[in-house]
Amino acid sequence: MSRSSLGLLDRRLLFVTGKGGVGKTSVASAIGWLAASRGQRTLVCEVDAKGNLADAVGVGPLRFEPTEVRADLFAMAMDTEESLREYMRLNLRVPFVARLGPVARTFDFVANAAPGVKEILTVGKLAYEVRERHYDLVVVDASATGHVVGQLASPVAINDLVKVGLVRSQTDWMIDLLTDADTTGVVVVTVPEEMPTSETLELIGRLRDETEIDVASVIVNRVLPELFSKGEELLFDRLRTPEGAAALERRVGAPVDDVLAGADLAVRMRRSRVPHLTRLREGLGEDVDLLYLPYLFHRSHGVRATSVLADAIGDELGY
Ligand SMILES: Nc1ncnc2c1ncn2[C@@H]1O[C@H](COP(=O)(O)OP(=O)(O)OP(=O)(O)O)[C@@H](O)[C@H]1O
Ligand SMILES: [Mg+2]
Repeated sequence: MSRSSLGLLDRRLLFVTGKGGVGKTSVASAIGWLAASRGQRTLVCEVDAKGNLADAVGVGPLRFEPTEVRADLFAMAMDTEESLREYMRLNLRVPFVARLGPVARTFDFVANAAPGVKEILTVGKLAYEVRERHYDLVVVDASATGHVVGQLASPVAINDLVKVGLVRSQTDWMIDLLTDADTTGVVVVTVPEEMPTSETLELIGRLRDETEIDVASVIVNRVLPELFSKGEELLFDRLRTPEGAAALERRVGAPVDDVLAGADLAVRMRRSRVPHLTRLREGLGEDVDLLYLPYLFHRSHGVRATSVLADAIGDELGY
């Protein structure tokens, strides 16, 4: 598989994945936010209908039909049945498909019985938006690690099952689009903790073994800031001695134990993350870009957090 020398936002289709709760939705929205603010017409799509994407971009519930969030930014929620209807309307020229009420029941039956059907309706819809150049960039808030490999491999799986005909002609272009590293990339979000680090390395291994899709970058989210310089740490160490604490307390006229304990905790927490970051860096090798995003100490996590994370990604990418 070829590697791409393009920057993250120069690709056209990005699948953002990672372990549950690490920040996939936040990062997908932030990438979309950043791209749109650079003037790229961008679509962000939530695949697992949890509704968090709507909060992150500050709009009401999302539907299959994209909502314009702000200039150049659109958001939608995947709905595989709608995707099938659209596919039939566009490809089979079945104009009355909207009136096929019971299609839902048949669809559920087929989709649940045949492996890869729901997955290909998801990936196919997004790949179609890219192929038709409806957007400059499509960012997918994709499934978590357990499910994403099957999703991304679904065109190949179906291609292997169906050798000729209409379905085959559909899977061929999708595979071409997904395996072109200049077009499509996976972004794996993680946090500097033990389990997410292991899962990330395992996922990257599986993506390399089981798909031909390029890993565009790994984004480490919730990295604790370095609050104190080395010199300041030494100063706090001295202040934590009984004499130091007593002197400080006399000076400020109030108990200082909690403040000193807090400073100690901040340093320890940050240090405890370092081995995970090192393991990740070593496990990934040199050819995967690693980006770091700060822990946000905000109470609210809507549009404000999205725009802060977008700026942080922009800084990391050198924009
Ligand atoms: N850098 C950050 N600093 C602080 N909090 C964050 C950061 N990134 C995300 N969060 C918060 O962590 C929580 C989980 O984030 P998010 O919903 O983006 O994760 P997710 O991977 O999409 O989760 P799920 O697997 O449930 O879809 C949210 O409350 C979000 O606001
Ligand atoms: Mg999410």
